[in-house]
Amino acid sequence: MQFQLTEEHLAVQQAARDFAQTELLPGVIERDEHQKFPAEQVKKLGELGFMGMMVDPKYGGSGMDTISYVLAMEEISKVDASCSVVMSVNNSLVCWGLETFGNEEQKMKYLVPLAKGEIIGAFLLSEPEAGSDATSQRTIAEDKGDHYLLNGTKNWITNGNSASVYLVMAQTDAAKGHKGINALIVEKNSPGVTVGKKEDKLGIRGSDTHSIMFQDVKVPKENRIGEDGFGFKFAMKTLTGGRIGIAAQALGIASGAYELSLKYSKERKAFGTEIMNHQAIAFKLADMATEIEASRLLCLKAAWLKDQHLDYGRASSMAKLFSSETAMKTAVEAVQIHGGYGYVKEYHVERLMRDAKITQIYEGTSEVQRVVISRDVLKD
Ligand code: CAA
Repeated sequence: MQFQLTEEHLAVQQAARDFAQTELLPGVIERDEHQKFPAEQVKKLGELGFMGMMVDPKYGGSGMDTISYVLAMEEISKVDASCSVVMSVNNSLVCWGLETFGNEEQKMKYLVPLAKGEIIGAFLLSEPEAGSDATSQRTIAEDKGDHYLLNGTKNWITNGNSASVYLVMAQTDAAKGHKGINALIVEKNSPGVTVGKKEDKLGIRGSDTHSIMFQDVKVPKENRIGEDGFGFKFAMKTLTGGRIGIAAQALGIASGAYELSLKYSKERKAFGTEIMNHQAIAFKLADMATEIEASRLLCLKAAWLKDQHLDYGRASSMAKLFSSETAMKTAVEAVQIHGGYGYVKEYHVERLMRDAKITQIYEGTSEVQRVVISRDVLKD
C-alpha cells in the first residue's frame, strides 16, 4: 500500500492551490453576495486544463487521473465552492459521460470544446417531481423516426444558463419504466428551449442554477447517447463518478473551514492566551482534522478504484456521504470557533457553512447514498 502522492499529483495540487488564492479568493465574497457567475475564472480554469481533467488529450482533455481531479477539486473548493461545482459538473458528469458512452462523432463535436473549457455543459436529470426518485421522469422524448420531440421541465440545473450543451434524460416509452429513458445531447440554442428563473440559493450562490423548459424541441436521433433505453443507466453510471467530485468538493469546504479556524485560533486571544490553548477549541480542531483526514482517504480510495477500473460504486457513495456530513459539521464548528466574527461575511466561514449544505443534497442526498451503500453491503 502506498499513501504517497506522486510528483505529478503534487504539481496539480499546487497549481490548483495557487489558482484558488490568486484568481478565486479576491472577489469570492462579492460573487456570493451578488450571485455572480464566475465566468472569467471558469475560462481560466479551462486554459489550465481543469475543465476536462480526465479526458484523453485526443479529445482536448488533460489526460489526468481521478486522484489529480480530487486534489484539484479540494483546493478549488477550499476557496470557492460555486466555482468548483461548475468544474465538477463539466468534468465528471458531462465530459466523462460523453467520453465513456458517446460515439466518435458526438465526442468530436461536443466533447472537444467541453474538455478544452471553450464551452460548458450541464446534466439534466432532476425534475419538479423527480429528484431522488430519478426513474419518475415526466420529460418526454417522443420518437418521431429521425428525431425525438422533447417536452417537459427540468429543475435545479447547475450551469443552467451558462452551459451551451445539455445532457437531458427523458422518457421515450413510459411502459418500459426506467428502460424507456433516453439520454439526449441538446444544444441550448435549439428552438423551444427556455431557461427559467435563476434560483436564489442559500449557498453556492455564484453558480447559476435554473429550471429549463423544453417545448417541442427537435433533437436529432444521432444525439442520443448509447442504445435506445440506455438513459437511466447512463445517468446512474455517470453519477457514480460524479459523487467522487462532490465528495472532493465537500472535503475542500471542510478543509477550507478548518484551515481558517486553525489560523484564527492561533491569533485570537481570550482569557489571557490564544484560544488554541483552551481545550474547548483544541478538541474541536482535533475532531475536525481527524474527520477531514478520514474524508480525504475515502475520496482518494474511490478515485484510486476508478483509476484501476475496479468497482467504485460503494466507495464513491461512502466518500460522498462521509465528506458531506464532515463538511457540514466542520463548517458549523468553524463558525463557532470564530464567534461573532464567524457570523459575518468577511471571515469566509459563514459562506463555507452555507455552501456545505448543498453537498448533502445534490448528486444524491445523504439518504440516497445510504440506499446505495446499504444495498451493496447487504450483498456481502
Ligand atoms: N450503475 C449502473 N446501473 C445502475 C446503478 C449504477 N450506479 N444504479 C442503478 N442502476 C441500474 C440498476 O441495476 C437497475 O437496472 P436493471 O433494472 O436492469 O437491474 C436500474 O438502474 C434501476 O435501478 P434501481 O432499481 O436501483 O433504481 P431505484 O429507483 O431504486 O433508484 C436510486 C435508486 C439510487 C435512489 C437512484 O434513483 C438515485 O441515484 N437517485 C438520485 C438521483 C441523483 O443523484 N440526482 C442528482 C441529479 S444531478 C445533480 O445533482 C448535478 C448537480 O447539480 C451538481
